[in-house]
Amino acid sequence: MSRVLLLVAGVLMACIAGGSAIMDDDNRIRQVVDDEVESSIQHVVGYSRRAFSFARFAHRYGKRYENAEEIQRRFQIFSENLRMIRSHNNKRLSYTMGVNEFTDMTWDEFRNHKLGAAQNCSATIKGNHKLTHVPLPESKDWREADIVSPVKNQGHCGSCWTFSTTGALEAAYKQAFGKDISLSEQQLVDCAGAFNNFGCHGGLPSQAFEYIKYNGGLETENAYPYTGKNGLCKYSSENVGVQVLDSVNITLGAEDELKHAVAFVRPVSVAFQVVSGFRAYTSGVYTSTTCGSSSMDVNHAVLAVGYGVENGVPYWLIKNSWGADWGDNGYFKMEMGKNMCGVATCASYPVVA
Ligand SMILES: *[C@@H]1O[C@H](CO)[C@@H](O)[C@H](O)[C@H]1NC(C)=O
Ligand SMILES: *[C@@H]1O[C@H](CO)[C@@H](O)[C@H](O)[C@H]1NC(C)=O
Repeated sequence: MSRVLLLVAGVLMACIAGGSAIMDDDNRIRQVVDDEVESSIQHVVGYSRRAFSFARFAHRYGKRYENAEEIQRRFQIFSENLRMIRSHNNKRLSYTMGVNEFTDMTWDEFRNHKLGAAQNCSATIKGNHKLTHVPLPESKDWREADIVSPVKNQGHCGSCWTFSTTGALEAAYKQAFGKDISLSEQQLVDCAGAFNNFGCHGGLPSQAFEYIKYNGGLETENAYPYTGKNGLCKYSSENVGVQVLDSVNITLGAEDELKHAVAFVRPVSVAFQVVSGFRAYTSGVYTSTTCGSSSMDVNHAVLAVGYGVENGVPYWLIKNSWGADWGDNGYFKMEMGKNMCGVATCASYPVVA
C-alpha cells in the first residue's frame, strides 16, 4: 500500500515539475498527449515501479507501439535489459550502463539495425604508418583543437564505416584548411561497392578512403544528403568537398602505432567488435571479456579522437555515430593496451593535403 502511494506521489511530482514551466497553449496540448501515451502504456503493463520507468522511457524516446501485444513485448524486453543494466552497475566496474533509446530492443534486433556484417580487414596486416622516437603526451583530445565535427546518427543502417570515414575526413579537412565541412555518408553507401563495401550491410574506412582516392572525391553532406538506405549512385564531381590523396593503415593490432598516430597526426578511423552490453554504455572506460579482436571479428567502425588515463585505466577516446544522446555525449572510452575488442585491428587515417 505504501509503495502504491509513493508511486502516485512520484507521478504527481513529475507533473508538477513539467507544469511549473510557463504554460502556453502549445505546452498544454503536448502535456495532454504525452500523458495519454504514458497512461495508455500503464493501462497495459500496470503500475509497478518498472512499469512506470517503462512509460517514462517510451515518452522520452517518442516510442510508438502498434498495439497492446507490442507494448507487452517491449515491456518484457525493457525489463530484461534493465535487469542487465542494474546488475552491471551494482558491480561497480570501470564503466556504467544506463537506459537509452535501445533499451526496448533485443540484441538481435539491435544488431540487425545498427551493425554491418563482420568485415575481413586482414589487408592491414602490414601498415605504413611511420613511428618516431618523440615522447608521446600523457593524454590527447583532438576536440580541444576544435577539429572534430559534431556527432552524427547513422539510424537504422549498418553504415558505421561511412561515418567513421567522414568523421576522419572532416577532422583532416579542418586541420589542413581551417574550415568546417560536413561530408556525404550516402555517397559512400551508394557508390563505394567496387571497393569491397556493402552499403548498409557494412564496409571499412580504409576501403572507403581507397574508393574516394580513385573516384576523385567525396561530396558534401548538403549536396548528397543521408537517407540511411541503400540507393543508386548519384555522384557528381561538381559537388566534391574533399579529395583523398592517400591513406595510411595501422599495422594490425599495433596499439603503439595507433597511439602515435592519434598523438601526432590526427583522429584515426578504428573498428572493433560490439557485443551485447556495449549498446547500454553511458560513461567510464569500457572493457569486455567476451568481445574478440581478430580481423574477422570487428563489426563496428568509429573514430579515435584521443586517449588518456581514468582511475588508473588507460583508454582510447572514441566518437560514435549513434547520435549525441548515446553514451557520453555521443562518445565512449575503450580500455587501451590490450587491443580491446580489436580496436587496433583495423585502423587507418586519410591524407587530404
Ligand atoms: C581475408 O582477406 C585476406 C586478404 O585480402 C585473405 O587472404 C583471406 O583469405 C581473407 N579471409 C577470409 C576468411 O575471407
Ligand atoms: C590499406 O588498406 C586497404 C584495405 O583495407 C588497402 O586497399 C590499401 O592498399 C592499404 N594501403 C596501404 C598503403 O597499404
